[in-house]
Amino acid sequence: MPDKIKIAPSILSADFARLGEQVAEVTVAGADYIHIDVMDGHFVPPITIGPIVVEAVRRWTDVPLDVHLMIDNPERHIEQFAGAGADIITVHAEAANDLGELIESIKNLGVKAGVSINPATPIDAIENVLSSVDLVLAMTVNPGWAGQAFMEEVVDKIVQLRRIMDRRGFAAELEVDGGISPKTARRVVEAGGRVLVAGSAIFTKGKSVAETMAELRVSCGDVIL
Ligand code: DX5
Ligand code: ZN
Repeated sequence: MPDKIKIAPSILSADFARLGEQVAEVTVAGADYIHIDVMDGHFVPPITIGPIVVEAVRRWTDVPLDVHLMIDNPERHIEQFAGAGADIITVHAEAANDLGELIESIKNLGVKAGVSINPATPIDAIENVLSSVDLVLAMTVNPGWAGQAFMEEVVDKIVQLRRIMDRRGFAAELEVDGGISPKTARRVVEAGGRVLVAGSAIFTKGKSVAETMAELRVSCGDVIL
């Protein structure tokens, strides 16, 4: 298994009153992406942040911004997020009217396009875009909140996704999001996940992000570092 594991701290668990500093801290600690969870109060119950915050985060880091849109009607907002400095825009298959067209519109904005599926959504729902996306995001919790328990039952789907992508030569990165901690990270990597999103495991009271990120990396063991 040749690729390096990437770590994408989710700022949803950061201290929003000192967001810039926390983004700078994870940058120094070696974050590969900054994961930004956008929620609209419709696709998922909470409301989090919009393009204005993406723009602010952009000023604190050169690390690629991985924007996870948990919103309805994503086609209405992708241009603003691209303009705000997103490097990767990921949309949910469950929220798209025409997924293929949406992925093309994201790419036409000059940013990378990702597609995400909820734990209950089958791979079939994204089959037609697997060859064209840059990133596939498998949710291992139902989206909406940080700090939920990792759903073991999704591991099989990650294995299947890895198999399909390798067999058919698709280059998309396989990212996994939800409940990832030093306890679950290794299973995700062994299943084929290559980008680990983590919120509550990275932004933890009483520990530095350098410490928590190092713990996460070590927990992947000698699988891939
Ligand atoms: C959940 C979000 C996740 C979340 C992860 O809806 O998409 O990115 O912040 O948080 P943890 O790592 O605490 O499960
Ligand atoms: Zn997320």
